[in-house]
Amino acid sequence: MKILFVGDIFGSAGRRIVREHIGHVCEANSVELVIINAENAAGGFGVTPQIAEELFDMGADVLTTGNHVWDKRELLEYLSSVPEDSKERPRRVIRPANFEPGVPGYGVFEGVTASGIQYAVVDLMGKVFMKGTNNPFIAADEILGGIKAKVIVVDFHGEATSEKVAMGWHLDGRVTAVLGTHTHVPTADERVLPGGTAFQTDVGMSGPYDSVIGVEKDLVLHRFLTGMPGKFEAAKGNPKMCAALITCDPKTGRASAIQRIMLGE
Ligand SMILES: [Fe+2]
Repeated sequence: MKILFVGDIFGSAGRRIVREHIGHVCEANSVELVIINAENAAGGFGVTPQIAEELFDMGADVLTTGNHVWDKRELLEYLSSVPEDSKERPRRVIRPANFEPGVPGYGVFEGVTASGIQYAVVDLMGKVFMKGTNNPFIAADEILGGIKAKVIVVDFHGEATSEKVAMGWHLDGRVTAVLGTHTHVPTADERVLPGGTAFQTDVGMSGPYDSVIGVEKDLVLHRFLTGMPGKFEAAKGNPKMCAALITCDPKTGRASAIQRIMLGE
C-alpha cells in the first residue's frame, strides 16, 4: 500500500504546484491514501472551508493542520459542523490532538480506503518552542490505545528537530509513519526505523521557495534588519511540491520504504 503525505501547502503558489503534480504522482505510484498538511494553504495563514474543499477535490483524503489552525475563523464552524463519528469532509480536517480539551474539532481521523483498508491519521504538535500544547508523547500513547487500524500516520507538527526525532523513536514499531511538518524546510533524513516506522524530520513546504519559509523575503528581511513590525505576505516564486511517499504492508501497518519527493514547475 502506498501513502502520499504532502508537506505544508503555503498559499496560492503551493496550491497551484500541488494541483500540477498530485494527480500524476498518485497515478504513477497507485497511491491509496493522500494526506496533506493544509495549515498555511490560505495565504500562508490557516485554511478556509473553501480551500479545504479545493484540496479534497484534488484528491486529499485527510487534511492535517497545526499552530495556524485557528487563523481563519470560518474554519471553526466547518470543524464543528459534523459529529465525531462522521466521515464527511469537515471531519477529515483535523487539528493537533494535544490541544486543550474542549476546543473545536478532532485530532484523529479513522477511515477506510477505497479498497477497504482501515487507517488512522493522527495530528500532534510539539511542545518545544511552541505554545498551547500538552505533552505530545503522552498524548500519542493515549491515542494509540484507542485506534484499531494497523495503518497509522502521524503528522508531528513541531519546531525542534530533536523533539521530532524523539517522537520517531517513541512511536517506532507502533505506527506506519511519523512525518514532521511546520519548519517548511525538507530534511534529508527519511528512513524506515528498525521497528518498521517510516520517519522524516520535516517533509518540507509545498510552496514558493524564493521566500523565507513561504513569506515574501523582502518583508522578512526588513523585519530582521530593523526589528520593525510589518505585514507578512505569501511569496509566489519558485514553487515546489514536497512530499513523502510511504510503502507499507496494510496487514501489519509496517513501512518498508519512504521516498522524499520535491517537484518544481
Ligand atoms: Fe506550523
